[in-house]
Amino acid sequence: MHCTMELTGLILTAICLGMSSVVVGNEVSKHQDRLAGRPSSVSDASLPCLKDLAKKFGIWIGSASNAKHIHDDKEYDQVLAEQFSITTPENACKWTIIRPNEATFNFTNCDYVVATAQGNNQTIRGHNLCWGAHNPAWLDKFDNNSTALRSLLITHISTVGKRYAGRMYSWDVVNGAVLDSPKNGTYLKTNTWYPAVPDYIDLAFKTTHEADSSVKLFYNDYNCEVINAKSDAIYKMLKTMMANSVPLHGFGIQAHFSISHADARHAKKRLSGGHKFASSVPTDWSTVEDNIKRFVDLGLEVHITEMDVSIPSNSQQYLDQQADVYRNMLKACLKYAPKCKSFETWGFVDKYSWKKNDPDYFDASFKPKPCFYAVVDTLNTTHVL
Ligand code: G3I
Repeated sequence: MHCTMELTGLILTAICLGMSSVVVGNEVSKHQDRLAGRPSSVSDASLPCLKDLAKKFGIWIGSASNAKHIHDDKEYDQVLAEQFSITTPENACKWTIIRPNEATFNFTNCDYVVATAQGNNQTIRGHNLCWGAHNPAWLDKFDNNSTALRSLLITHISTVGKRYAGRMYSWDVVNGAVLDSPKNGTYLKTNTWYPAVPDYIDLAFKTTHEADSSVKLFYNDYNCEVINAKSDAIYKMLKTMMANSVPLHGFGIQAHFSISHADARHAKKRLSGGHKFASSVPTDWSTVEDNIKRFVDLGLEVHITEMDVSIPSNSQQYLDQQADVYRNMLKACLKYAPKCKSFETWGFVDKYSWKKNDPDYFDASFKPKPCFYAVVDTLNTTHVL
């Protein structure tokens, strides 16, 4: 499936795969044969290239990438390479994969996804160095002793940070640390690291900077797209870190959305609850813009890092609503481009999504959905400020 670039009415055919197969370093050359072995065309469809349409704004368009699907599914591998200029390894660089046990580092999957991305000339967001959830079972059972935990965190971040120095554009240094409903000054989740290592967030950022002084350091979280108690708490936390000279460069807004049946019936009504990690659809998109603006004004780079939009069924009505959510979120980012520098989805094809309810650009047979065309249209029709 090759994609094409539309320009002022003309369709300039740009064979994206050919344009993007820049090979960097020894690690990638191991994968060169596999990349060269890609079929020249998986289907006859001719699609616009998101990554090219985004260039005029100085931003990247991307998707999470998954080691198993890159390896097993040629069409997945090809669309990933053709459409996107930035990628985040979905799971391959997490503790669960890199640290099968306390004594071992296994970089096979992370290396593979990173090498593939380099072969595609894609910018890479490392994800993640410290998360209080979804850790390996041995870490969940780890001796709850602050000195030992502290040293474990430092060793992990130093080792991983140094290994990928020069290859990652950024790291999600800390992921999802803030409570969904902070109250009375209490804003940090109790988790693997907290309160055992009370300063674990500052420690993680400082340690990453020591391991790789040129990588950009991000805090990444969900349910913080609009101005709400959670994004307020994150804003305050990041501002304090900056005031205390903790190295920090960016804020990642995950942007997992869920359209519920009730949203469809009462489009204006904002719902509470919903899918874990998912936000209901904002009724007023100016609050998303204002939220991005305040982090940009703080001097941070903002990335939309994990966007997807769950829908209750594949009816035309829901597909159209889904397209509107993608359009509105992208518009909010473009308003502050290039300081809102990256617009990434958490996958791009429904059949491999972490969610069951069709949240991505392509259906199971890689047919682009209305939300894909909404993003194309927004990139084509929005003026560069
Ligand atoms: O690969 C094993 C498979 O061998 C095994 O049979 C199966 C049984 O449960 O598990 C498989 O591993 C799962 C893995 O996804 C691959 O599918 C893990 O159990 C499962 O926990 C893991 O979930 C990932 C989750 O993070 C936790 O790490 C999701 O794929 C991934 O999409 C999700 O991504 C997170 C971001 O990192 C942070 N923001 C939220 C986002 C969505 O939850």
